[in-house]
Amino acid sequence: MPVLARIRERFAVERPLEDIRIAASLHVTPETAVLVRTLIAGGARVALCASNPLSTQDDVAAALVAHDGAEVHARRGEDMETYYRHLATVAEIGPHVTLDDGADVAALIAERPDLLEAIVGGTEDTATGVLRLRAMQAEGRLGYPVVAVNDAQVTRLFDARYGTGQSALDGVVRATNVLLAGRVVVVFGYGRVGRGIAMRARGAGAIVVVCEVDPVRAVEARMDGYEVMPAGEAAARGDVLITATGGRDVVAAEQIERLRDGAILANAGHFDVEIDLPALRAAATGPPRRVRPAVDQYELPDGRRVNLLAEGRVVNLGAAEGHPPAVMDVAAASQALSVEHLVQDRGELAPGVHDVPAAIDAALASLTLASLGIAIDGLTPDQEAYLHSWEQGT
Ligand code: ADE
Repeated sequence: MPVLARIRERFAVERPLEDIRIAASLHVTPETAVLVRTLIAGGARVALCASNPLSTQDDVAAALVAHDGAEVHARRGEDMETYYRHLATVAEIGPHVTLDDGADVAALIAERPDLLEAIVGGTEDTATGVLRLRAMQAEGRLGYPVVAVNDAQVTRLFDARYGTGQSALDGVVRATNVLLAGRVVVVFGYGRVGRGIAMRARGAGAIVVVCEVDPVRAVEARMDGYEVMPAGEAAARGDVLITATGGRDVVAAEQIERLRDGAILANAGHFDVEIDLPALRAAATGPPRRVRPAVDQYELPDGRRVNLLAEGRVVNLGAAEGHPPAVMDVAAASQALSVEHLVQDRGELAPGVHDVPAAIDAALASLTLASLGIAIDGLTPDQEAYLHSWEQGT
């Protein structure tokens, strides 16, 4: 993660986070570990818990404690009670800064106004978390500034399109060993994540069907060359069905009724509500059989089998390793620089959701190009002047 490495070198010298306490709820992966190390190199004390009960890599959690002095409260497969206990323990650090992937720390702080006084700001790493924060803000419940790291231009591009696009399919393939070529892959939702998955599935030789409720996006999907149809129809066609909407109950009773024998159901959205799990359990003849490590097979009354991956949780982290380091490098660098910005400008930002400052966005893009060994041209003074003039016409 060369971009983050450069930031870490600078942080180690400048110590911009001296004595800053950070409460983080993130996927506990090697990439997050590199971010935590960077923050600690900058002088911070970090308490970390998971942002999903299935995504923790236990060896990474242990290494962060043993070698880096982080406080980590996470265990792969923890139940929901343990998950929320860990979240509460992390908040006990009395954070100056919160790092979220799904807004769980921010939601906890909304219930703990006693913690607000110390907080200078937070970051949020995922689109669903940003939606949640905006809902909190609308109800006057977001008491501190949070930078929407996920909305930085370069992060958007990397995370959703290239990160989830590849890693969601990686999760499906690792879990099932399915051959994608010639199969019908249904993608629910044609936002940034859905576009990434559709693109990669087509690249692997799949016939891609898109379901989308937004007419503009549906047109785009069609013009991008995919079949577009309602979810019920697509459910009857799909060999692999992947939700990527950020909404809920996208694959519900009506679609489950029409699934093909052997259908593979996976979710690439942040929360496990896109596949209606109670409806799946109700439709099945009994509890599922775990047929492979991340595959639960449900049997329907007429004998059809439905394979649910990663318990309906985000498949790229539940059945694979999430975004590759090259993708997380940019997202984590954006988090590290945003934390530095929040600490440097403490008191300047009003409570609410904020964009990543344009200067950080531009710096990230330049650092990323540099890390790839790519040089680009700049505008000449004449070109620059032309773009700001009006005199010259046809
Ligand atoms: N979100 C998606 N992929 C991730 C990864 N590898 N590490 C941390 N958070 C992630």
